[in-house]
Amino acid sequence: MRALEERIQRDGRVLGGDILQVGGFINQQIDTSFTLELAREVFSLFSDLPVTKVLTIEASGIAFGFAVSLQFGVPLVFAKKSRTSNVDGAVLFAPIHSFTHGNDYNATVSAEYIKPEDNVLIVDDFLANGEALRGLIKIVNDAGASVVGAAVEIEKGFQGGGDRLRSEGIRVESLAIIESMSESGITFRR
Ligand code: G4P
Repeated sequence: MRALEERIQRDGRVLGGDILQVGGFINQQIDTSFTLELAREVFSLFSDLPVTKVLTIEASGIAFGFAVSLQFGVPLVFAKKSRTSNVDGAVLFAPIHSFTHGNDYNATVSAEYIKPEDNVLIVDDFLANGEALRGLIKIVNDAGASVVGAAVEIEKGFQGGGDRLRSEGIRVESLAIIESMSESGITFRR
């Protein structure tokens, strides 16, 4: 999506360790009307499918997930990164290893919120190695529900997570795919 690529070029900063800093409009300060524009694009990509739930993971996925779920008129569910006292009953979970942060955690969702009849669209702000999306797919599968696909704001294509999921038959739509980046510039996949 050209508008997102231009925004990344204008406001993104490439940090060492292959990290793109977009705190000014996605990760800390959120440009809400721009996020709604991105969500409308996701709706146009998946409007042919009978989405009944949008699923993301805390924290940064929630704003985008909210905007996307609003377009579809369905609830947003978000996975928590640790089991907390306000989740009771049966719990769906997936162990996730984050290469970016170098840590492991369990993503958890109450089984009450994803049912076998659900068609789930998974969304997140970033796709790097794809471990977070893979964990969310496991949660949907364990619930007996269907994954209709995944929508991501920014994919770091050079880390391969998106292409691995696509090669496994998951429909992954990223609004911007970075082919390469360094302090001297960012190149997008065409
Ligand atoms: P990973 O296996 O390399 O960790 O990648 P994955 O695709 O699973 O993404 C894991 C986390 O890393 C996500 O955040 C994602 O937003 C974040 N992330 C990955 N690369 C970048 C990057 O270049 N820039 C930014 N800003 N974030 C990146 P998370 O662990 O869920 O944390 P949160 O920020 O949502 O709390």
